[in-house]
Parts: sequence; structure tokens; C-alpha cells
Amino acid sequence: MNILGIETSCDETAAAVVRDGREVLSNVVYTQIPLHVPYGGVVPEIASRAHIEKISEVVKTAMAEAKGVKLDAVAVTYGPGLSPALIVGLNAAKGLAKSLGVPLFAMNHIEAHLHTPFLDSEIEPSTVMPALGLAISGGHTTWIDMPSYGTYRIVGQTLDDAAGEAFDKAAKLLGLGYPGGPKVDKIAREYSGELIPFPKGRPREGVTALAGLPAECCVSFSGLKTALLRYVQKEGGAEAISASGRLPQVVASYQEAIVQAVADRTLTALKRREYKALIVGGGVSLNSRLRTVLAEVCDRMHVPLLMAKPKYCGDNGAMIAALAYYRRNKTGEEAMKTDVAPSLDFED
Ligand code: KG4
Ligand code: ZN
Repeated sequence: MNILGIETSCDETAAAVVRDGREVLSNVVYTQIPLHVPYGGVVPEIASRAHIEKISEVVKTAMAEAKGVKLDAVAVTYGPGLSPALIVGLNAAKGLAKSLGVPLFAMNHIEAHLHTPFLDSEIEPSTVMPALGLAISGGHTTWIDMPSYGTYRIVGQTLDDAAGEAFDKAAKLLGLGYPGGPKVDKIAREYSGELIPFPKGRPREGVTALAGLPAECCVSFSGLKTALLRYVQKEGGAEAISASGRLPQVVASYQEAIVQAVADRTLTALKRREYKALIVGGGVSLNSRLRTVLAEVCDRMHVPLLMAKPKYCGDNGAMIAALAYYRRNKTGEEAMKTDVAPSLDFED
């Protein structure tokens, strides 16, 4: 079954053709990052316009790179994400499915990130259940218990910023530009000295009670963000830190606080039941330090770590096609009538 996957939830216009959920025949990603750099973050209207301009070309290229194979279905992200951006992909996919006379699948972006480790792999998702999922991106930091394939129970999450957001905000404060995650990662990699003890993202118990989730499986990055802000102010500002050569130390310490918080909560969640795998997906899973530390956690727990190849960590269409192949939900008239769902949650 050849599925064309389309993704336009944020700042990447992406399309891919995937055979039987895992064999990637083509994967085209047009990134809009340079368009958003002057604004220090994604501007929804600019994103929408750029998706409109690029979507046809990206889809055509994905089809051509897949050698024009006959498509059996079209899959598209309908949420979560930016409404004006999502609408472009959803409308394009509806039109394409109709004109080709094939079914449309409307897919959940975050759920799709959890399918990226299976792309180009031999592993069938259903064979690694029960699994613990970690969706870690610019909008999510969520731990999900997957007792069987397609069943999701949130066991922990961030109570404020997502990990990617925490990276991006720190980078902005330190004058590193947008997007911050890759910049922080690169600078931190070159530092190996002593670290500044920033807070490790532990939420206050009373606060987590509101989310109804156990505090030991949740993170909060607001204290860390404030600690960085105070540190920068105390040291005379970002420029002074940079001029004194201490930027790598500050950046590496901040990254370590995020990574250790995520690793600690992952370890706690892994101890709560017997898992056959830890499945990690989302843009922040590109972080080199996070990859190393999560591998250590999984070694310690004797649980296989399933992470995507770097080229599938960011937003892409292949993950949308993969999810559609395995889930086969939200299709037919239901998909054709689906509207964008900017705040879509996990759904069984
Ligand atoms: O999954 P993604 O491409 O888009 C969303 O669904 O949000 O994730 C984007 C996020 C951004 O916050 C970006 O800074 C972060 O992933 N990111 C990283 C790295 N590469 C991208 N964070 C830390 N280290 C990286 N190497
Ligand atoms: Zn994403």
C-alpha cells in the first residue's frame, strides 16, 4: 500500500510516499526557517502563505522521487499545529484524494512523531507493545503509556513550556537566534567543563494535582527559565557572558538541566510497568546529549530504545503516511469532513 503523506502543521512544507508503513520511497521537506528568522519565531500568516506557495511543488517532487508509483491513499496532518498552516495541507490533501479517487486519512501530528523510529526499519510497531512513548518537540513534552498498539494513556507531561520551547526561549535570551535547539546543541557539544547547577525541572506537587498526573512523571521548565534569566541579569547581560567566553558553559548547563529532567522522568515512567521499548519522537529527539542520556537510561532498565534516524526527527510527511498505514482511522467521509484541530490531544 503506497501512501502519500502531507504535513504543514508548522514551518515545514512536507510530502512523502511510504510503502507499507515503513519503506520510505521519497521524503521531501521544504523548511521555512529562513522566512521566520527575522521575527525570532514562527509567524502563522507567513507560514500559511509559504505553505500555499510550496505545497504543489513539494507534492510533485515527492511523487516524482517515488518514481510515480500508484497511490492507494493520501494522508494529512489535521492537528495539532497552527490553524492557518494546517488548513493548507488539509485542503490540498482533500483535493488530491478526491481527484485521484483514493481514500483520505486525517492524522494526528504528535502520534505520527511516535511512528518515526519505524521508518526504514524492520520493526512492526505492534511487536514492541506495551511501550512507553516520549513525544518531545516544540509544542509537546509528553510521556504516553501504550499498552497495545493504538491505545494511549498520558502518564506525564510538561506543565508549562515544552522542551523545544525551553531551548528556543533560552537561545533567544542568549542572542543565539531561532530555532534555538540546534544552536544550543552545537555550542554545548564543544563544552566539557564544570556546569552551573540550574534547577532540574521538578514541578511542585500542588501544581501537578491540577493536571491529575503524578508529579514524579511531570516536568516544569518555568523555574529553569527564570533561573537562566536571573543568571544572565546578574552577569551583566548576554553580551557580557559572550564576551567573557562563558557562553558555552551557560548553554551546556541549561541543556543539561533539560536533558536530566527528561531523563529522570523517563526513568520513573519506565519503572512503573514492564515495557518492551521506549519510543521517542519529535524535533528535540535530535539533541545529541538527550540521545546519549536516554540510551543510558534504557541500558539501565534493559529496555530497547527506539529513536528515529535524524532525517525523520523533525516534521515530515513520511511519519504521517506511516501512521495512516498502521492506524487506518479517520478516513472516508469522516476524513473529508474533518476540520483542522489546532489543539488536538492524543486519541485512541
Ligand atoms: O517536532 P518539531 O520539528 O516541530 C514541532 O512539532 O514542534 O520540533 C521543533 C523543536 C524546536 O523547538 C527546535 O528548537 C527543537 O525541536 N530542536 C532541537 C534540536 N533540533 C530541533 N532541540 C534540541 N536540540 C536539537 N538538536
Ligand atoms: Zn512536530
